[in-house]
Amino acid sequence: MTSHEAARIVEVRELASRIARARRLTIMTGAGVSAASGVPTFRGPQGLWREYRAEDLATPEAFARDPQVVWEWYAWRREQIAACQPNPAHEAIASLAKRPGAAVITQNVDDLHVRAGTPGLIRLHGSIWELACAARCAAGTRPWRDERVPLSPLPPRWPHCRGLARPAVVWFGESLDDATLTAAVQATACDVFFTVGTSSIVYPAAGLVHEAKSRGAFTAEINLEETPASPAVDMAVHGAAEQILPLLTE
Ligand code: APR
Repeated sequence: MTSHEAARIVEVRELASRIARARRLTIMTGAGVSAASGVPTFRGPQGLWREYRAEDLATPEAFARDPQVVWEWYAWRREQIAACQPNPAHEAIASLAKRPGAAVITQNVDDLHVRAGTPGLIRLHGSIWELACAARCAAGTRPWRDERVPLSPLPPRWPHCRGLARPAVVWFGESLDDATLTAAVQATACDVFFTVGTSSIVYPAAGLVHEAKSRGAFTAEINLEETPASPAVDMAVHGAAEQILPLLTE
């Protein structure tokens, strides 16, 4: 066993005992938690933003310019995600989330946390399985769920106004849903706050661990590599979420 591995075992044990003693626990996840399920991350080696330009696919301007292209990309991602299953990281988080005083915040739109049975999930960036009225017509205030794969015809139409439907996800340049963001900020009032599999560069999500720290929480990060949040957290555990998370439920 290398000294790095020995040190990590000590860290994981300490984090597990802090989690066990915490009255209020908050976990925030990013794309890295779904990597082991086969869902591509955004900025990793085969990340989506290495292959595609976010500004061409994940902005309101891109949708206004060419809704067909945007929908073809989201339909492709839905087909990919539909073939994926929750992994041991999702399952461990689902069991931690069932404890009183626990909260789970995710940036992911794949809903693998939902499929793993995570209660009360705070979805900051929406869901790829939900659609909304692009024109925000009167009847289109709440997204509706549509899990059809393949999704057709493309682009889908909003049944009430027959206008275009859009993926109910938060695009770059758009603000988050007020109630959702409020719930996430409230969850930073906790004893232990840790992030899993996020590059901690997209705000406001990336600000939550700092908010938790300023409120006195013990903060930790689980990631394969360093992120901009690593120097700020109390503990940065470098390793794969699907290997470490199950150890935290023991
Ligand atoms: N275990 C732990 N961490 C992992 C694993 C793994 N198996 N695989 C990858 N990671 C880490 C990477 O090192 C990286 O730091 O997960 C992080 C994934 O970062 P991003 O791809 O940037 O994803 P995320 O942080 O969720 O992106 C935030 O950006 O593109 C937008 O809206 C999109 O919600 C997304 C937001």
